Amino acid sequence: MTPERTCTTMTQIVLPQFTNNHGTVFGGQIAAWADICAAISAQRFARTGVVTVSIDELHFLKPVHQGMVLELNSMVNRAWGSSMEVGVRIEAEHPVTGRRVHCCSAYLSFVSLDAEGHPAKLPELDTSQDPEFSRRADEAQARRDHRLKMREMRRSQR
Ligand SMILES: CC(C)(COP(=O)(O)OP(=O)(O)OC[C@H]1O[C@@H](n2cnc3c(N)ncnc32)[C@H](O)[C@@H]1OP(=O)(O)O)[C@@H](O)C(=O)NCCC(=O)NCCS
Repeated sequence: MTPERTCTTMTQIVLPQFTNNHGTVFGGQIAAWADICAAISAQRFARTGVVTVSIDELHFLKPVHQGMVLELNSMVNRAWGSSMEVGVRIEAEHPVTGRRVHCCSAYLSFVSLDAEGHPAKLPELDTSQDPEFSRRADEAQARRDHRLKMREMRRSQR
């Protein structure tokens, strides 16, 4: 399967219940939407149940005000044994002007699970057909190396 087959788009309007005291969207809500969008991409690739194993840095680049429309786009960047990295890009659209800004990006890792809830082997993700997919896959490898290094450090500190 190629990465584009895992593409997922999710659209949300920022209603009052999703905002903080400043009238801008609550960061935890964006994280939840990003997790759902990315999980759908991961499931489209794995065709199994998946769980989130880590969420990398979540950068809030611009404030998103009540009434704006958020569009989340996600795609699997790379797959290893049972785990995969999904990238999510979020844009905010002004409902009247239509102006769009890139407001948030995140990388999430998921693990494919078998019926017993154990990590399950993933199929191969073919990133060789498009230089953009190959570039994303190379960058995903560097992030995975860092994640697993941090995991080892946490374990050794226990
Ligand atoms: C995900 C889970 C099943 C992995 O179990 P585990 O005992 O760590 O299993 P393993 O050590 O065999 O790791 C499984 C895969 O996860 C990867 N992984 C583990 N920790 C990771 C981390 N912090 N970041 C990225 N990948 C990680 C491993 O590299 C391995 O990938 P690979 O098969 O592609 O090499 C287990 O940690 C779990 O159930 N976590 C809770 C998940 C959850 O509740 N999420 C929130 C709700 S969805």
